[in-house]
Amino acid sequence: MSSLLVDNIGELVTNGAGEGPLGIRRDAAVLVEDGRVAWVGPASYAPAADRRVDAGGAAVLPGFVDSHAHLVFAGDRAAEFAARMAGQPYTGGGIRTTVGATRAASDDDLRATVRRLRGEALLQGTTTMEIKSGYGLTVADEARSLRIAAETSTETTFLGAHVVPAEYAGRPDDYVGLVCGPMLAAAAPHAKWIDVFCERGAFDVDHARAILACGQAAGLGVRVHANQLGPGPGVQLGVELGAASVDHCTHLSDADVDALASATTVATLLPGAEFSTRSPYPDARRLLDAGVTVALATDCNPGSSYTSSMPFCVALAVREMRMTPAEAVRAATLGGARALRRDDIGVLTPGARADLVVLDAPSYLHLAYRPGVPLIRQVLLNGVPQ
Ligand code: NIG
Ligand code: FE
Repeated sequence: MSSLLVDNIGELVTNGAGEGPLGIRRDAAVLVEDGRVAWVGPASYAPAADRRVDAGGAAVLPGFVDSHAHLVFAGDRAAEFAARMAGQPYTGGGIRTTVGATRAASDDDLRATVRRLRGEALLQGTTTMEIKSGYGLTVADEARSLRIAAETSTETTFLGAHVVPAEYAGRPDDYVGLVCGPMLAAAAPHAKWIDVFCERGAFDVDHARAILACGQAAGLGVRVHANQLGPGPGVQLGVELGAASVDHCTHLSDADVDALASATTVATLLPGAEFSTRSPYPDARRLLDAGVTVALATDCNPGSSYTSSMPFCVALAVREMRMTPAEAVRAATLGGARALRRDDIGVLTPGARADLVVLDAPSYLHLAYRPGVPLIRQVLLNGVPQ
């Protein structure tokens, strides 16, 4: 059994027992054994270990859990971004451009993009990253997207219902039949979750319900892209089906907030998308004040949010969505874990995976206080320094 002591921690965010909503401990140490947290306590009582990481009085927190990312794609849409910054609205229409590029790409090109983005995220403190398909939209391209995603993450999501592809224009029933039949059969062996873009211009509530129900019957957990571009039935559908998470939640009615408050479904907010589409941010305060569990994630994708940075999302959530720094850090760690229905990540308590981040700063507050600054000094993944 190998052991490692992370010692001399000035401020330890545990998301468990401790001070405030982040369960903070001061002058602390964390003992890691075989990839798990074995002990947490005062540095002065720290047990001996085979190896030591000296945090130098800095802050340590659980690695970020990015529960929403679309990494399997080819090409970029920088020109679409520039047009938006010049006043064009975001409609999701560009998804089909990325579908064309993705279908034309080789496996190795797609794999290289997934690895590049996952590597970028790791350098910014992300220790778990969900990865969706959704830019293939044929049986073969969705299956290969998920096969490639599964090489990098166990949290893989089948998003065959991202949009109706051009070859099925005007025949959404036929496409839903394909998604629920051969596409699901080819995708399910590589996927843990199923997701649908339930929005005007993508899938209506009846199609979305049918697709999610097929996925559930095939053993996949449910997540929904909902209420991003306007009000709609997606959030209520997610709650009705016991979704782990409804994502975006930018346009919510009182009934949507009430439904979320009385459910276990997490509201995952994706401020990178509002930033990059110059849209109004979701009302995080309304959700938090109603008692809804909130997660923050990047939505990393080439269209609406081409960022892999969880610290950027934390800073946006604090500055633009009026989350406190503690709420934002909790949502980016424990919130993401809840959105993935995981209890072994997002916390630094005995038994948890030793996924942690040493900051180049004395406090988690600096994640929002020093936006855009690379503050991740070291990452441990499953107890292994990266
Ligand atoms: O979550 N809204 C749907 N899907 C992505 C955007 C995809 C794209 O524009 O390529 C999202 O924002
Ligand atoms: Fe998304």
